[in-house]
Amino acid sequence: MNAVRARIGSLARQFALAVAIVVAPVLVALVVIAVLMVVSNHQAVLVAVIVVVAGAVAIAVARLLARGILRDVHAIRDGLGAVSRGQREVVIETSARDELSELAGAANAMIERLCDEEKARRDLVAAVSHDLRTPITSLRLLAEAVGDDIVTGETRRAYIERMTTHIDALSALIDDLFELSRLEAGDIGWSLERVPLAELVGETVEAMRVQAEVKGVAVLAELPESLAPARANPEKLQRVLFNLIQNAIRHTPADGSVVVRAQPADGRIVVEVQDTGVGIAPEERDHVFIAFYRGGTDAARTSAGAGLGLAVSRAIVEAHGGEIWLADAAHGTRVRFSVPVAA
Ligand SMILES: Nc1ncnc2c1ncn2[C@@H]1O[C@H](COP(=O)(O)OP(=O)(O)O)[C@@H](O)[C@H]1O
Ligand SMILES: [Mg+2]
Repeated sequence: MNAVRARIGSLARQFALAVAIVVAPVLVALVVIAVLMVVSNHQAVLVAVIVVVAGAVAIAVARLLARGILRDVHAIRDGLGAVSRGQREVVIETSARDELSELAGAANAMIERLCDEEKARRDLVAAVSHDLRTPITSLRLLAEAVGDDIVTGETRRAYIERMTTHIDALSALIDDLFELSRLEAGDIGWSLERVPLAELVGETVEAMRVQAEVKGVAVLAELPESLAPARANPEKLQRVLFNLIQNAIRHTPADGSVVVRAQPADGRIVVEVQDTGVGIAPEERDHVFIAFYRGGTDAARTSAGAGLGLAVSRAIVEAHGGEIWLADAAHGTRVRFSVPVAA
C-alpha cells in the first residue's frame, strides 16, 4: 500500500484515487448488468443516473474534506519551513480538532522550546562575556601599571597579587563553565564509588576553616557515625559541598555558624548545609539555582562569585540521580541535596 501511495504522490491525488476505487466498480457493474439485459433500459438509465449523482456527491465531499486537511498540512509545512529558515515568531494554526491539530500542537511546543533554549544560550554568552571582560580589564590596567614602572616595591607586589587573584577567579569561572556544559550535554565520564560521607565532609570542612575563621564564622560537621556510604564520585561530591559551604560562609556575618549534617532517608542520603546568615529573599528563591543568577544588592554582587556555584552543584547532584533544594531561606539558609546510598 505504501509503495502505491509513494507512486501516486500528493494527498489530493490519494483522495481522488480512493473515490475512483469506490465509484468505478459500481459503474462497471451497472454496464455489465445493462449489457446482460437483466434489467430494462429504463431501469438501467435510472440506476446509472443515481450512481453518477452519488459518485459526484462523494467526489465533492471528498474534495471538500481533502481541501481542509490539505490546508492544515500546508500550514504545518509552511510554519516548520519558516522556522528552518530562521524565523521564530511562528505559531502554527489548524482548523479542526484532529490528529493534524495534535501534530501542529507538538510542532508549536517544539518551536517554543527552541526559542527558550536559544534565549538561554544568548543570555549565557552575554553573561560569560561580561564576567570575562571585567577581570580582563582590571588585569590589563594592572599589567600596564606594573610594566610601565609606574609602581614599585610594595605596591608593585600588591598589584601582582591582585593580578593573581583575578587569574584565579577567571580560571575558576572557566572550570565551572566547562563542567556545566559537559553536564548539560550529558557527558558524565566519571566513576561512581562508595563514598564515606563523614570523611569527605570532614576533609572539606577542614579545607574551608581558614576562610571561615577570617570571617569569624564557625564551621561544624555533625554526621552520625553509622551513616551508610553514598554511591557517588568523591571529587564531584566534594565540589558540591565546597560550593554550598562557601556560599554559607560568604552570606553569614561574624559570630555566625555553618553546620553540615547528613541522614538516611528512603534509599538516599540527604545532606544539609545550614547557616545562620541573612537568608534569601522570597523573590530570589526560585532563581538561585539558575546559572549566572546572583542575588542580593549590587555591592554584594561584585564581591561574590559568578553565580555558577549552585547551578554547577545542581547539575552534579542531578547527574547522580539526586535532587537539590532550599529547605529554608527565611531564618538563615538551609540547602539540602540527596544522593543514592551505596548498595
Ligand atoms: N547560604 C546562602 N545564603 C544567602 N544567599 C545565598 C546562599 N547561597 C546562595 N545564595 C544566593 O544565591 C546566589 C547564587 O549562588 P551561587 O550560584 O553559588 O553564585 P555565587 O555564589 O557565585 O553568587 C548568590 O548570589 C546568593 O544571592
Ligand atoms: Mg557560590
